[in-house]
Amino acid sequence: MKLSAYISELSSHVGAEVTLLGWVHNTRSSGKIRFVILRDGTGYVQTVAGKNDVSDEEFDLLGNIGQESSVEVTGVVREDKRAPGGYEINLTGIKLISAAEDYPITPKEHGTSFLLDMRHLWLRSRKQHVVMKVRHHAIAGIRDYLNNNGFYCLDTPIFTPNACEGTSTLFETDYFGDKAFLSQSGQLYNEATAAAFRRVYCFGPTFRAEKSKTRRHLTEFWMVEPEMAFADLDDVMDVTEGMVEYVVGRCVDICGEELSEHLGRDLTKLETVTRPFPRLRYDDAVALLHDKGVDFEKGGDFGGGDETIISDSFDKPVFVHRYPTAVKAFYMQPDPDDPEYCLSVDLLAPEGYGEIVGGGQRIHDIKLLEKRIREDKLPEDAFKWYTDLRRFGSVPHSGFGLGLERFVSYICGLNHLREAIPFPRLINRLNP
Ligand code: 4AD
Ligand code: MG
Repeated sequence: MKLSAYISELSSHVGAEVTLLGWVHNTRSSGKIRFVILRDGTGYVQTVAGKNDVSDEEFDLLGNIGQESSVEVTGVVREDKRAPGGYEINLTGIKLISAAEDYPITPKEHGTSFLLDMRHLWLRSRKQHVVMKVRHHAIAGIRDYLNNNGFYCLDTPIFTPNACEGTSTLFETDYFGDKAFLSQSGQLYNEATAAAFRRVYCFGPTFRAEKSKTRRHLTEFWMVEPEMAFADLDDVMDVTEGMVEYVVGRCVDICGEELSEHLGRDLTKLETVTRPFPRLRYDDAVALLHDKGVDFEKGGDFGGGDETIISDSFDKPVFVHRYPTAVKAFYMQPDPDDPEYCLSVDLLAPEGYGEIVGGGQRIHDIKLLEKRIREDKLPEDAFKWYTDLRRFGSVPHSGFGLGLERFVSYICGLNHLREAIPFPRLINRLNP
């Protein structure tokens, strides 16, 4: 009896005849034998037919079939240590579902801009498949970690009336005659839900009208943002390192082989990602830059290059905490020991991946928060609900945001964020 199977589950069908549904990844002929590498979305497998194994029409089809044609094949599953994936299919039949001709992405090298134009097809390629798989497992790992640690998922709105992370990177849109902005961060709303549920997170798309054209910036990216009531800066670092260690470990466990084989990822660089991560004060990070001969003016924010130099001193992600209040957002709690600095933290990934997490402790004193809102010339009316959170049972609370694409890029060793999301949105790209 025929079994309909997925390539990822061939190990449980050894010796049986199966039917597979998929697309032609590649073909090859050698004498009287024809090979088709089939992909079905769950994996890749080499299928083989000799002239006498299938009908003449089927044998001809095997010789002429275009890359990415969709097919139904039947054959017997054989274990073969030499075959990629460890299994091979001895074909007994093949049916064409839909022919494809002149598939634009061939095994030869293509430029990135062409591939991005072809993103709707490029996602079928092997490397992209591995990256998307890692992204999937990173998302699942993040959710599991938070769900298992008492966090409630309470998603926050995308249409918002005000800014969270500074007005210069807001996307404005018309909302029935009023102005609305696409959310830069769910944090402010998380602060409300944290007072209702104690530990919460949101995980969704965020938008930044960044003018920067760097390999670390998307205009639309996904961010997970945990927020905790009755929690301080140390709690933020504890949860961050627990989550990052867990998710990196899980991605390596599930996808390690593919990461190494298809993306050339050096897994030893990920195996060091274990708690505790080093915790450096901003001042110590500046001293480190000065030791390395970098001409950095203390008091400013780090640029991408500075972050790389700081993280190069460590073989795992490093926390930099207590930045100058002046370079961080209005809601950051000043350090009671020195209010020129605030209880903020960034997590810098190794190998030049830079800031993957930003967070800290929020101002819980109403007077101070109102003063900061005025100083930043933010619209006081729009922030009334936010200051209410300090009017009714205010407590110290803290949280952070982890940028999914930066995290996935780091795990996969990509040199640009654009491959870490199915359909990237960049300053110069809105298609496909
Ligand atoms: O440091 P950011 O701006 O922090 C916040 O938005 C806080 N409100 C989060 C919080 O405390 N709940 O952004 C957080 C993270 C960054 O560390 C980075 O990983 C990512 O979001 N990120 C971007 N990723 C891709 N493209 C961009 N333009 C990004 N801007 C920030
Ligand atoms: Mg930041």
